[in-house]
Amino acid sequence: MKTQVCIIGGGPSGLLLSQLLDLRGIDTIVLEKHSREHVLSRIRAGVLEHGFAELMREAQCGERMDREGEIHHGFFIAHDGIMERVDLSGHTGGNSVVVYGQTELTRDLYEARAARGGKVIHHADDVKLHDLTSSPHVTYRSGDDVVRIDCDFIIGADGFHGVSRKSIPAGVLREYEKLYPFGWLGVLSRTKPVSPELIYARHERGFALCSLRSQVLSRYYIQVPLTQTVDEWSDDDFWAELKRRLPAEIGVRMQTGPSIEKSIAPLRSFVAEPMRYGKLFLAGDSAHIVPPTGARGLNSAASDIYYLYHAMTDHYKKGDDQGLDNYSARALARVWKAQRFSWWMTMMLHTFPDSIAYDRKLQETDLAYLFSSENALSSLAENYVGLPF
Ligand code: APR
Ligand code: PHB
Repeated sequence: MKTQVCIIGGGPSGLLLSQLLDLRGIDTIVLEKHSREHVLSRIRAGVLEHGFAELMREAQCGERMDREGEIHHGFFIAHDGIMERVDLSGHTGGNSVVVYGQTELTRDLYEARAARGGKVIHHADDVKLHDLTSSPHVTYRSGDDVVRIDCDFIIGADGFHGVSRKSIPAGVLREYEKLYPFGWLGVLSRTKPVSPELIYARHERGFALCSLRSQVLSRYYIQVPLTQTVDEWSDDDFWAELKRRLPAEIGVRMQTGPSIEKSIAPLRSFVAEPMRYGKLFLAGDSAHIVPPTGARGLNSAASDIYYLYHAMTDHYKKGDDQGLDNYSARALARVWKAQRFSWWMTMMLHTFPDSIAYDRKLQETDLAYLFSSENALSSLAENYVGLPF
């Protein structure tokens, strides 16, 4: 087989790029290891920067997002028994975020690819990348057959555990990583959200987050030690602990119910540099991971796709390779800002098992400064709604 751009990974990054390039008449094949149902069973954050929402519209995938997603103009930070609001719109000249689940967004992308006859190959086993600096091609196993795809470029959009990043020689790749000594236990429940806007809560027992998918579907998280497993948390224990970490007025109006999904995710910061090797370009989780505290994960993936989309379009339509040549540096500059923001939110709002009294005083001061300074609030807001591409 032959294509112009072979995309490894059928998550949001790979599908969005495939859709955008197709609309510009550029041919792609997406190779996905798992089934569509498997990809759509993953539950992940659902806060979209306004620039990302625009990109979804440009990809002609914004209709359901605009109908069912919620526009949020602010969120709350709860601490010391009180709630303080971050006015996103007020501090960014009217910008906002769209709350729309990643699962739904990925479903929309799959449907859009199918409607345009896009080539998305599922159950592509044993994907291998070859000749990255000369005549790139990809092979995968389909049953007993090995299939070869020749292409101009390969996009590694296969997530943190994918094969693409690992195909870059060790001497070329530099990895930066920070692990946090806790995870988030998340629960999805068919209950009315306790607050119309998200609540990020700092509490000595540990961080908590109240989020939502719709007015009848809530998503809540609590910080837990990495040594704990989901089985150790009954629904009742989860609700009781969540309420303890929130201001009393929020706890009393919390609607509880059976969990429909419950999982623990460790928190990690990770960046791989460079994001290009020869004809291979990394995008999304394959190159960088953030802790979920600032909701930057999917948004950082989207900014990679924005740069790649424009770079590929310039290459094919104008013979201009500047975007491709600058891709790694441009993408990484924005990636590191998202890393900094996620790290800062994480450090400010979590309880660290090995912290000393001095560290806790600084956390309190960080919050006190934030809510006493319009400049500090503006800085938070501009990062949360998304820095310009
Ligand atoms: N071959 C083919 N596909 C693979 C391989 C492989 N060797 N390894 C992984 N994949 C697929 C996975 O099954 C997954 O569907 O690549 C896809 C990668 O998708 P994601 O992990 O969702 O990564 P990405 O598309 O970059 O999405 C960005 O933002 O909010 C964060 O982590 C969240 O998934 C989200 C991400
Ligand atoms: C979510 O809704 O799952 C969510 C929202 C905001 C975050 C993280 C997760 O910062």
